[in-house]
Amino acid sequence: MGNLLFSLCIVSLLLSQSTSTPPQDPIQCTSPHNTNCTVTNSYGIFPDRSTCRASSAAFPATEDELIAVVANATRAQRKMKVATQSSHSIPKLVCPDGDDGLLISTKLLDRVLAVDKAAMTATVESGVTLRELIEAAAGAGLALPYAPYWWGLTVGGMLGTGAHGSSLWGEGSAVHDYVAEMTVVSPGAAEEGFVKVRTLKEGDGELNAAKVSLGVLGVIYKVTLKLQPMFKRSVTYVIRNDTNFGDETTTFGLQHEFADFTWYPSQRQVIYRIDDRVPSNTSGNGLYDYFPFRSTPSLLLAGVRIAEEAQEYLKHADGKCAGGKLTTATLRATSFGLTNNDYIFTGYPVVGYHNRLQSSGTCLDSPNDGLITACPWDSRIRGEFFHQTTFSLDLSVTKNFVRDVQTLVALDPESLCVLDLYNGILMRYVTGSSAYLGKQGDALDFDITYYRSEDPKAPRMFEDVLEEIEQMAVFKYGALPHWGKNRNVAFAGAIARYENGAEFLKVKEEYDPLGLFSSEWTDQVLGLRDGLTVLGEGCALEGLCVCSEDSHCAPEEGYFCRSGKVYKEARVCRYEEVSGV
Ligand SMILES: Cc1cc2nc3c(=O)[nH]c(=O)nc-3n(C[C@H](O)[C@H](O)[C@H](O)COP(=O)(O)OP(=O)(O)OC[C@H]3O[C@@H](n4cnc5c(N)ncnc54)[C@H](O)[C@@H]3O)c2cc1C
Ligand SMILES: *[C@@H]1O[C@H](CO)[C@@H](O)[C@H](O)[C@H]1NC(C)=O
Ligand SMILES: *[C@@H]1O[C@H](CO)[C@@H](O)[C@H](O)[C@H]1NC(C)=O
Ligand SMILES: *[C@@H]1O[C@H](CO)[C@@H](O)[C@H](O)[C@H]1NC(C)=O
Ligand SMILES: *[C@@H]1O[C@H](CO)[C@@H](O)[C@H](O)[C@H]1NC(C)=O
Repeated sequence: MGNLLFSLCIVSLLLSQSTSTPPQDPIQCTSPHNTNCTVTNSYGIFPDRSTCRASSAAFPATEDELIAVVANATRAQRKMKVATQSSHSIPKLVCPDGDDGLLISTKLLDRVLAVDKAAMTATVESGVTLRELIEAAAGAGLALPYAPYWWGLTVGGMLGTGAHGSSLWGEGSAVHDYVAEMTVVSPGAAEEGFVKVRTLKEGDGELNAAKVSLGVLGVIYKVTLKLQPMFKRSVTYVIRNDTNFGDETTTFGLQHEFADFTWYPSQRQVIYRIDDRVPSNTSGNGLYDYFPFRSTPSLLLAGVRIAEEAQEYLKHADGKCAGGKLTTATLRATSFGLTNNDYIFTGYPVVGYHNRLQSSGTCLDSPNDGLITACPWDSRIRGEFFHQTTFSLDLSVTKNFVRDVQTLVALDPESLCVLDLYNGILMRYVTGSSAYLGKQGDALDFDITYYRSEDPKAPRMFEDVLEEIEQMAVFKYGALPHWGKNRNVAFAGAIARYENGAEFLKVKEEYDPLGLFSSEWTDQVLGLRDGLTVLGEGCALEGLCVCSEDSHCAPEEGYFCRSGKVYKEARVCRYEEVSGV
């Protein structure tokens, strides 16, 4: 039955049209003049399920207006946070503390200011989206070489959290490693008019702080990015078993410029993305309109979700595996949304211009159809609802990590079928960066997405396996968190692993001595304050703690706090059937 539902779902997914309701503005104010506001992320919920309030929101449309807003709020010593129209970060980076917070939206700071073909740069206001940046660059025959795969992020947000695509080549896949110059508006002293505007250039130490800042240094007004001449790529996906996968994590990224992996540990399969530049006279006009980022009928999303909830409720592992296989097989059969031209897929390799392949997100496209279709994670519909554990591991340890995960899965072969509905584990290359809060060395980033219940006290299937992997990555292998994703656990002690963490804090102290752009959350993440771990009943289920007693799990539902099976130091919530009942 589950299978049939999945099939129907996937068929209608493929038939879905490219119209949808655009995502909602994450800032909602109930009173006139943008006062009495709430702010959330694109999923409509933070990892701890808190609600964030601000007493007002400002929507500056020019640099001068932005400067006035920051000066005014600094004079009043108000807490501030930069909010984007997209708000795609999972943690509550966007929340100002207290009752009198101010949200400074970059929604109207959305102009491409200049594209310099000769210098091969683009200068944009920070609210410009990745999609707009890619289009503006392409219009001048230029390309941003590496970028996230989803169009809907803003330049300010990508820099704020260190967003990236996949590459070990050139300066690596992180957008911040292509910043040539940026302008930052921060609080100032009274004699400076309560505001200070700094223009940082490549080579300035402060740029290393500002280009990945979690938003705590002030507002990035504009950014100049280094581009390259437009080029063509050739993409081929190849499926292999995961027998030698661990070894290949260290070599594959050196062989192919845009290499990445999608790993299905329970299926023992990996999809290798063989993706390289090709001469520009190679024929092909490929397009990548990634299926999971297309607008999808809400009814279909609800059907998939209901099936997933039923499987969770019944602990139906076979159903998860069957559904997972069908999802991955369907994505594969439809080449994930790749076509050799605008419409049809005729086979690999798909060759095309970089700007048409590097990222996508047609679910952002308007016609407001009242949520008949939407982005799959839109919080206004009953669609996807998940946790994301996303971290990078130094390339020297990826082989051992993969082996440990394989050992763990071998003990419970169906356990990671729970990832397949979310298309497995996406793995992308990142390189060491001069950014103080950037990656410390060449690394592989793991994106793990999994079921989250509407009920914070409800455990999930194979909870213990997911938690063991999370703790293994963070505590055994010293993972660095993606700043824009994750549950609290992944940030525990992370800041100590950044060689220049202290340098970052010095710059923060200089730019914003009163901490007006900081919050309890950013202080916790930056190691300035305790409280990342929130102990309480069921806290481990939501990643708010590592369990140390059964009550942190769900003992009444048979989930008890136990040791890891491969990484013995892990403490995880494991389901144990009570015998004789
Ligand atoms: C569907 C989807 C796909 C994704 N794909 C990828 C991917 O391929 N690769 C990847 O690395 N990540 C990816 N992410 C995560 C994403 O990169 C980060 O969450 C991203 O940084 C969010 O950007 P945003 O514009 O939504 O910023 P927000 O989440 O709104 O803001 C992020 C932080 O930056 C700060 N900030 C924003 N603008 C400014 C500014 N102008 N000045 C100062 N501070 C500012 C904010 O205050 C906040 O602290 C994805 C997320 C989703 C939902
Ligand atoms: C502020 O907004 C909340 C809902 O978010 C509402 O309950 C409250 O009445 C509002 N207060 C005022 C003064 O408008
Ligand atoms: C300046 O702050 C005051 C009080 O906090 C507010 O009423 C006013 O609208 C603000 N002006 C600007 C330009 O933000
Ligand atoms: C995995 O693939 C390799 C070839 O790439 C093959 O030699 C090996 O037998 C396969 N292993 C399994 C378990 O299928
Ligand atoms: C592409 O151009 C190169 C020279 O620049 C030439 O040698 C090659 O044959 C061309 N290839 C195609 C497919 O036209």
